[in-house]
Amino acid sequence: MLWIKAFHIVFVTSWFAGLFYLPRLFVNHAMVNDPATHDRLSMMEYKLFRFMTPLALLALIFGLWLWLGYGFSGGWMHAKLTLVLGLVIYHWYCGKLLKEFQAGRNSRSHIWYRWFNEIPVLILLAVVILVVVKPF
Ligand code: HEM
Repeated sequence: MLWIKAFHIVFVTSWFAGLFYLPRLFVNHAMVNDPATHDRLSMMEYKLFRFMTPLALLALIFGLWLWLGYGFSGGWMHAKLTLVLGLVIYHWYCGKLLKEFQAGRNSRSHIWYRWFNEIPVLILLAVVILVVVKPF
């Protein structure tokens, strides 16, 4: 079980590297107008999203393996899964925003993306407290 948890934490951490960096690229992308920088940022965002999606899947697979394989339960687990569902929706929405940037259709400001970038921070804080402290 400890090997599975170790890989779960490694893939969760790797997934979050992408969840923190991709919206930061969007912040910069929303401030540029020249085509060369637009193309470079689009390529960086595309490669990062393509890299972080399998990491997300592996984090979820090892988490489900822990949950279903070792009988973990409690209010903390339900609250955690609700937040994780929010994280999966956030990941999917980043993919949608990526396509809008690539098509030159972004209409949101860099300020909007700076707030958007804080969401994974808050979810990480809540999930780690839930799974380590198990407050309920
Ligand atoms: C389908 C999604 C997930 C499921 C079913 C799941 C399930 C679990 C389970 C059952 C444990 C073991 C808890 C224990 O040993 O007390 C665990 C550990 C952990 N999970 Fe997840 N998890 C999921 C996603 C995530 C995500 C997205 C994060 C980060 C935001 C996360 C962070 C952690 C951490 C930090 C631990 C280690 C806790 C410890 O060692 O005390 N998990 N997870």
